[in-house]
Amino acid sequence: MIELRELAHGDAGAVECIYGPESVRFLGRGPMDANEAREYVAGALSSADGKPRVRYTLGLAVDGDLLGVVKLHSVGSVVAVSYVLRADTWGRGYATEGVRRILVLGTDRFGAAAIRARHHPDNPASGRVLRNAGFVPTGVRAGFVTYALPDVWR
Ligand SMILES: CC(C)(COP(=O)(O)OP(=O)(O)OC[C@H]1O[C@@H](n2cnc3c(N)ncnc32)[C@H](O)[C@@H]1OP(=O)(O)O)[C@@H](O)C(=O)NCCC(=O)NCCS
Repeated sequence: MIELRELAHGDAGAVECIYGPESVRFLGRGPMDANEAREYVAGALSSADGKPRVRYTLGLAVDGDLLGVVKLHSVGSVVAVSYVLRADTWGRGYATEGVRRILVLGTDRFGAAAIRARHHPDNPASGRVLRNAGFVPTGVRAGFVTYALPDVWR
């Protein structure tokens, strides 16, 4: 059973492992180092204090082990969902469950805003996560496959 929770400063080492070489392959960035991981966590904590809060960067934990991050970011009337899991935990349904959980939060906090997501075309596992969580593909934009959550799921 997964848990979504706020990050804490002590999570920086786990975040660095989550953003390892395999995980960042389609993210347009390099692996995270320790400094960046500390800054990442500090940014997540700072965004948690936002009023109104427009960004949720939540840790995905299983049995107390932080395995991933799931994010919800509101830009105007659109809410974007994204997620990254530590590579040795892939294929166990965790990302799909994490996205389902954060969508509930997105609906509660952001009301009727459109919920969107996207993935690199060479990253079909991410598309499976989105479809399994209820998203439908909407096309290709700027080189990414785009998705939206139909109203019927909200
Ligand atoms: C994408 C990612 C989050 C998936 O995490 P996960 O916990 O393995 O996801 P799940 O186990 O919930 O679901 C994976 C799905 O992809 C499928 N899958 C895995 N590898 C696949 C592949 N090469 N081609 C097609 N489907 C694939 C699995 O079969 C499963 O689908 P199913 O349940 O319908 O069978 C994880 O691989 C990751 O963190 N990747 C790096 C970061 C990233 O790409 N994030 C998304 C940015 S858009």
